[in-house]
Amino acid sequence: MAPKIAIVYYSMYGHIAKLAQAELKGIEQAGGKADLFQIQETLPQEVLSKMYAPPQDKSVPFITPDIFKTYDAFLFGIPTRYGNFSAQWKTFIDHLGQLWQSGALYGKYFGMFVSTATAGGGQESTCMNALSSWVHQGMIYVPLGYATTFALLGGLEEVRGGSPWGAGTFAGGDGSRQPSSQELELAQAQGKGFYEHVSKVNFA
Ligand SMILES: Cc1cc2nc3c(=O)[nH]c(=O)nc-3n(C[C@H](O)[C@H](O)[C@H](O)COP(=O)(O)O)c2cc1C
Repeated sequence: MAPKIAIVYYSMYGHIAKLAQAELKGIEQAGGKADLFQIQETLPQEVLSKMYAPPQDKSVPFITPDIFKTYDAFLFGIPTRYGNFSAQWKTFIDHLGQLWQSGALYGKYFGMFVSTATAGGGQESTCMNALSSWVHQGMIYVPLGYATTFALLGGLEEVRGGSPWGAGTFAGGDGSRQPSSQELELAQAQGKGFYEHVSKVNFA
């Protein structure tokens, strides 16, 4: 049976949302399908206004633990906060306690993609720090690696986010930089490679 894949992300300013679309394109390029979900906002409107955050995109459904547990494999989109999950993401993870206790997510697969403002802001550390939550659930990490992306990851000609831990983009200090074509290419390659890997697993 084909794996049921969810791309789950939080995106305050849209950078992660753009990478999520590229990940989906990669999955579809490999002949697969995936559903997009977003993490519900948790900050009060007063704070969001001060952060110049636009309203959440209502066209992408919000994930819940009940929906989450019905999927076999996941790609998680994380905009870094101090090199780690955003609080919105962490709140959702804290709602997964019952799934953790029952082992409902054990053996399921995941990959990650990230956005940071700056080059030293957490392209790798965000993935490293995020690992702990999913390891506690007993989930299996599928990193981007270098197998199909050596030229992109090895290139130094232009500024580019992403690492063997997962695709990534740089938003810039003021959030004005948008994902570059190389960053979108990397995210698409991750989606493709992720699907090619998990589609070999028997999810009967
Ligand atoms: C509270 C807060 C903490 C942040 N911490 C970092 C950080 O440690 N390193 C960094 O490069 N960017 C940091 N950023 C910038 C965000 O990662 C950036 O806004 C985000 O990646 C943009 O993605 P989005 O458009 O999908 O929301 C921080 C932003 C906020 C609001």
